[in-house]
Amino acid sequence: MEEILESIKNIAVEIKSAIEKEELGYANSSNSSGEEQLKLDVRSDKIIEKELSKLKNIKAIISEEKESQLKLNENGEYIICYDPLDGSSLVDANLAVGSIFGVYKNTPKGENIIASSYIIYGPRVEIVFTTQTTTPVLYRLQNNQFIRVKELTLNSKGKLNSPGGTQKDWKSHHKELIEELFREGYRLRYSGGMVPDLHHILIKGGGLFSYPATIKNPKGKLRQLFEIIPFALIFERANGKAIDESCNRLLNLTPTHIHDRSSCFFGSEYEIEKVKEFYENRK
Ligand code: AHG
Ligand code: MN
Ligand code: MN
Repeated sequence: MEEILESIKNIAVEIKSAIEKEELGYANSSNSSGEEQLKLDVRSDKIIEKELSKLKNIKAIISEEKESQLKLNENGEYIICYDPLDGSSLVDANLAVGSIFGVYKNTPKGENIIASSYIIYGPRVEIVFTTQTTTPVLYRLQNNQFIRVKELTLNSKGKLNSPGGTQKDWKSHHKELIEELFREGYRLRYSGGMVPDLHHILIKGGGLFSYPATIKNPKGKLRQLFEIIPFALIFERANGKAIDESCNRLLNLTPTHIHDRSSCFFGSEYEIEKVKEFYENRK
């Protein structure tokens, strides 16, 4: 695991530099989810592929920006699924973006994730890393090296409400849930980048991030292997909860295809109980 974390540190420095120096704009290609790729999506994917290829214990890598898995070492132990540049369309607005990694043993699915991590490229570059048995740790880039800052844990109740998706497409019980949290005094905090939005909740100690299934997107938008399952591990290890619209743990998700999506709710205990109140028996 140490090796993987070291590799993620190198990736963070390289992608940060690419974000600062390289050209914006589209790459004239689209990924398997049908989304147009930005030059920075493609560049970040290449940086991660290059760094992870140096590790002997990686069997294969699966990227949000690649159609299928890339085999690396026949005898490798782990499969790493990653979103090279989450929120890449926010770079032109100079908002924070991130990279997300899930380390899986055997078939990539919720119950096989053994470690996960994200990098956040904001005013500062930070990494959060967790394993199945440890509390998430925050590292910060300072004077060209990463220093360990602290462990991240959530309180049982927070103050932030981060509701994803197009509001006109929300189902009525979802709208009621979001409005109920505002009535209770929760404050809106939504940047449109999953990494900074979830990081915000982790740093402030609680709240709800939701990306629901909508009338238009019956499976939601966010992807299981690259986005949802890695963050589910981080939230659970930080004493939080992570469920889907059927109120099942996101760590129980088993994708049938590598690019499968799911609805998702990440939060502290109180907010996830609220989700259950509004969602149970009401799909
Ligand atoms: P990506 O840039 O990897 O395609 O992911 C963007 C995601 C995620 O970062 C964010 O939470 C969500 O898209 C925002 O979607 P909406 O604009 O629909 O809220
Ligand atoms: Mn993403
Ligand atoms: Mn992406």
